[in-house]
Amino acid sequence: MLNVTVLVSGGGTNLQAIIDAISEGKITDTRIVQVISNNPGAYALERAAKAGIKGICISPKRFESRADFYDALLKQIDDAGTDLIVLAGFMVVVPPSIISKFRNRIINIHPSLIPSFCGTGYYGLRVHEAALAKGVKVSGATCHFVDEGTDTGPIILQKAVEVLPGDTPEILQRRIMEQAEWKIMPEAIQLIAHGRVKVEDGRTVISE
Ligand code: GAR
Repeated sequence: MLNVTVLVSGGGTNLQAIIDAISEGKITDTRIVQVISNNPGAYALERAAKAGIKGICISPKRFESRADFYDALLKQIDDAGTDLIVLAGFMVVVPPSIISKFRNRIINIHPSLIPSFCGTGYYGLRVHEAALAKGVKVSGATCHFVDEGTDTGPIILQKAVEVLPGDTPEILQRRIMEQAEWKIMPEAIQLIAHGRVKVEDGRTVISE
């Protein structure tokens, strides 16, 4: 059984996709042991509660220093017996202390085809604003392992989504969520739960 901790900051639609995929049997041998939000108002915490999953807020504002916040976050993750950390719209930089302890056991969903529109400053709607400003005709989403860089870790799955005339950042964001994010994030978890993703020389190899 793969024990998953999901880290969130906002609406939690990717969390919902994972919850639904588990209940529909698309993700097997996996349970979400807890959902942790840095933001007390995150709707994702309500989604967790509705699904009967433990939801916790660990806000950096409650700690004297960033280091204390990160220590509390790591302790909460560790104490729950976490095998895999899933960043589902988590808008906090994960510190090296957590990355090294969970090497190739942290995954993130990013709303573009990495290496386009990623890195520092590219998150949420800003990614789609940048894609539209550039005039790309195709965008998409990437699920990847998290390393010490920003959006630089080994890519697990990607899915392309068409950009259409008249798209606003909001419309494009929603299409990319529906057609890509909510599909590839659960698929990646299912692959990992069944030992099918290996990292070799900084790239993933997915076995049959
Ligand atoms: C998603 O679009 C996700 O890809 C993005 O934030 C949104 C969270 O939505 N993540 C990033 O931009 C990370 N760099 P959600 O809370 O509804 O899942």
